[in-house]
This record gives sequence, C-alpha cells and structure tokens, in this order.
Amino acid sequence: MTTSRISGFYKLTLEERRAKLADASQLRPYNLLPFTNGLSAEAADHMIENTIGTFVLPLGIGLNFMVNGRDVLVPMAIEEPSVVAGASFMAKLARSGGGFIATTTEPLMIGQMQVINITNLEEAKFKLYEHKAELLAEADSIDPVLKKFGGGARDLEVRIIDDSPIGGFLVVHLIYDVRDAMGANAVNTACERLAPKVESITGGKVHLRILSNLADRRLARVRCVIPFKELSFEGYSGDQVRDGIIAAYAFAASDPYRAATHNKGIMNGVDAVVIATGNDWRAIEAGAHAYAARSGRYTSLSTWNKDKDGNLVGTLEMPMAVGIIGGATKVHPAAQAAVKLMNVKTASELAEIIVSVGLAQNMAALRALATEGIQRGHMSLHARQVAIAAGASGDMIEKVAAQMVAEKVVRIDRAEEILKSIKG
Ligand code: MEV
Repeated sequence: MTTSRISGFYKLTLEERRAKLADASQLRPYNLLPFTNGLSAEAADHMIENTIGTFVLPLGIGLNFMVNGRDVLVPMAIEEPSVVAGASFMAKLARSGGGFIATTTEPLMIGQMQVINITNLEEAKFKLYEHKAELLAEADSIDPVLKKFGGGARDLEVRIIDDSPIGGFLVVHLIYDVRDAMGANAVNTACERLAPKVESITGGKVHLRILSNLADRRLARVRCVIPFKELSFEGYSGDQVRDGIIAAYAFAASDPYRAATHNKGIMNGVDAVVIATGNDWRAIEAGAHAYAARSGRYTSLSTWNKDKDGNLVGTLEMPMAVGIIGGATKVHPAAQAAVKLMNVKTASELAEIIVSVGLAQNMAALRALATEGIQRGHMSLHARQVAIAAGASGDMIEKVAAQMVAEKVVRIDRAEEILKSIKG
C-alpha cells in the first residue's frame, strides 16, 4: 500500500527524497528514473516539428493526499514556488476530515460540426434527428479499439444559430464516450467521417469539424471537509480562518476580477498534475474558464462554506478532459512514470486526483490571503535563493534563510552578515 505521508520530506536531499518516494510508493527506484532522465531530444523530435531539444520544469511531489480513501503521491510539474508545499499542507488538513471525496461523470466529449448554406434550418434539424440512429452507428464504427473498451458514439444534438455574422447555420454535437483517452483524435476523426452524411441529409455544407474544449459532459467533482479546529495557526483561531476563507470565496463568487485570480490558484494545482502526466493543459485551461463563465458571468469554480458543525466545506466542479492512453502520456517517459506513481488505472481516477489537488491549492491560497498574506510563504523560498547567492551552502542555506525570514529582512547584505556570524 502506498502512503502519501512522508514526514520531513522537504528536509532531505534530492537523492534521499527519491529513495523515500520509491519506498512509500512501493515502486522500484528504476521506475522513478524517468523523473531525472526525462525526455530524450530524439524522442522529442518525434513529438513536434523543428525540434532542437527539450525544456525542463521542476517536478515536486504533492504529499498527504488521500482521494476516495486511497493515499496517492502526486507528481506536480511547475515552476512557481509555494504551490507544492501549499497543496501538500492543505491535503494534510483535509485528511483529518476524511480526505478528498471525488467523482466523475462518464467520459463524454463533444464534437462539433458547423453546417452552413442551409435554406430551411428547422427542417434540416429535424431531418438530422430522423437519421440519428444511422449517424450514431456510423460514428460508433470508426474506432474499434475504443469500442472494445466500452466507448463510442452516444448521442447527437442539433442547435440552430440564427443571429451570427454570416446569418443562420446549424451546430451538430456528437457526444462520444472516449473512455481513458483524452479523446480529441477519436472525436475529430468521427466528425470528419460523419460530415458527408450530414451534408447529404441537410443539403448544406459541413464547415468546421472539431472537438469542443468546453467539455461540460465530462466533469470531475470533489469535496472536502476541514474540521475548523485544524485551521487555527499562530494568532488565528479555527473559526477566524474558516470565516476568512468563506469571505474570500464570496469575493470570487461575486466579482470576475477576483474570480480570475481565484481560479488561477486552482489551476496552479490542476495544471501541475496535468503537465506531469503529459496531458494537454491548454485544453484543460480553456475548458475551466469557459465552464466558469457558463452562466453568462465569469465566477468561481469552487465553493467554500461551513457545515452544521462549523467545519469548512470546499467543493470544486470543472471539466476534466485528461487521458492515460495515447498522446504525450504514452510517449513521454516521465508522464508514464507519473501515471505509475499515482497507480491510476482509468482517466477518471486521474481526473479525481487532479481536482483534489486543485481544491487543495485553492484552499492554500485563500488561507494565506485571508490571514497573513501570501508573501511570507513565498519569502522563505526567496530567502533560500538569497542565502545561496550570499555564499551559503549545505545546512547553512536553511539557517541563513530562516533567520532572515524571522527578521523579515531578506537581503543579500543581511544574508552575508548572518553567514559570517554563524561561521565565525
Ligand atoms: C498565485 O499564483 C495564485 C494566487 O493569486 C491565487 C489566489 O489569489 O487565490 C495566490
């Protein structure tokens, strides 16, 4: 059994952390090698065009996560300090309330066909519905592998757009169950194949044929309960922190300017796991923000309230079009290692972990903002960088940094003085 609780992980050397990670996940050290060897330039050359090399990001481990009763060590690829620590700390608090409880809908993606040059839109719409079974059967036969695993075409929906700059046209949505794939290839292929039939039924011309990133039929949801007493720290009581988080959420719920930043905090956690698993984070970003604006006004993707016992309850609901087969997930050795580390067997399980990290990260940001502000957390990593610049190495880095943070003076001249006095 994997344990996601590794105490003092941050104090270890890189080497020691890898060894602990192998132990805690019960993987062999060689399973973790791709995290250091990464992607070869030769492999990268097969992924995109005009390749000249690779670009590397830090990879950290989100600790303490328990999702649906299972401990999971979460690989997070991100360049921003405080995100991994913040998510890990909040996951620890969430554990005491039972961890993260997450669910997903069926993995249904939407493919869109834009049908133009139609004289009678209403009639064409009805004709498409009359041929729905036939269209679905054709779409269903396109990907035998997906079909073998239980995926395939599920539904067809037709809408009329009558007030566009080019006048009226039809939008046909093909709903496709993509199982453990991200699904873009399957859906795009299905739409391209159906186009001639749609044209002969409607008498129009199928213009665009492409998946929608507003994957609102493929949602992931997560909830966590934090016993309010767990929230107290330093000069802040548990109910003060809880109420502060709820008031911060109210700001995001009511104001798009704040909601954008609030959701950015969620995406700090979400994207880090999406990237570490080789998934398309632009697709996830596009889906998240479009979903946040679904009511016509951009708002928070998460909610924060209290339950009848005064505990803090957080929820997050968003589209989550991630896969564990195909694409970069299959080709990138570190992405493969990431999937193995989390021991996920389905795309839904991966989605459930990702939204848990998003919610944890959101809580970390709100807790800091509602109390001491976020700069202190950022400062300690910054202080370490300043300590290194002042010539500290080994144990000295942490000592110099800690003193500067305590003094609230993070400057190179002060780091040099502290270093001299420790050495002297
Ligand atoms: C910074 O990367 C993310 C935050 O701005 C999120 C938030 O304000 O909720 C701290």
